[in-house]
Amino acid sequence: MSKENSQNIIARIKAIVEEKFKSEGSGHDWFHIARVMRTAEAIGEVEGADMTLVRLGALLHDIADHKFHNHSLEEGSKQARALILEVGGDIILANEVAAIVAQVSYKGAGVATPTDSLAAAVVQDADRLDAIGAIGIARAFAYGGSKNRLLYDPAIKPQMHSNFKDYATDQGHTINHFHEKLLLLKDRMLTGEGSRLAEERHMFMEIFLNQFLEEWEG
Ligand code: ADP
Ligand code: NI
Repeated sequence: MSKENSQNIIARIKAIVEEKFKSEGSGHDWFHIARVMRTAEAIGEVEGADMTLVRLGALLHDIADHKFHNHSLEEGSKQARALILEVGGDIILANEVAAIVAQVSYKGAGVATPTDSLAAAVVQDADRLDAIGAIGIARAFAYGGSKNRLLYDPAIKPQMHSNFKDYATDQGHTINHFHEKLLLLKDRMLTGEGSRLAEERHMFMEIFLNQFLEEWEG
């Protein structure tokens, strides 16, 4: 594929995704996608990934959130494949991007989420970096609030989910989400640059949680 052609495809996908997410207030906003795209570009450059795949994967990674599709993980890659074809990409590119989209999601503490391309590893790391650190903390409580969840309840302990369905349907409070997902992400980064970027964000969450519990206990 020529450089102009791939730039054209990226521009058209970006326009479609921006339009869709700007008019959707359902937890994922365009700013999340834009941050993941920027982080994925930074990691992808360092790691030497295929940047067309990185950009398209980042733009399309949340195109159909499982939370709004009966926890189906296939819907996103299906829609990603269709959109790439719609804007003039070939079936090889469409399948490569669809594979990335299928491989990004976190599925529970006890569920492995392997990738089969460097671009997919880069996008998975970038998405997870946006779930940790200061922004990750803000997103977790925003999400918890949207579901009417408690901030914290010391009686309800975290669970290390061993399958995706249990993870996706868990109703626990938001502090548990740190133990069930956010604090685990640092050690599950797939790229060297992703691990490096995770360190500071991880430390910030630990400081936050210590302070939170100190204030809670009074
Ligand atoms: P992503 O967009 O990173 O793929 P999700 O769609 O799973 O992640 O969730 C969107 C945001 O909401 C993330 O920051 C995630 O950590 C947070 N989130 C997901 N599930 C919960 C939960 N049960 N409690 C609190 N925050 C959550
Ligand atoms: Ni995301």
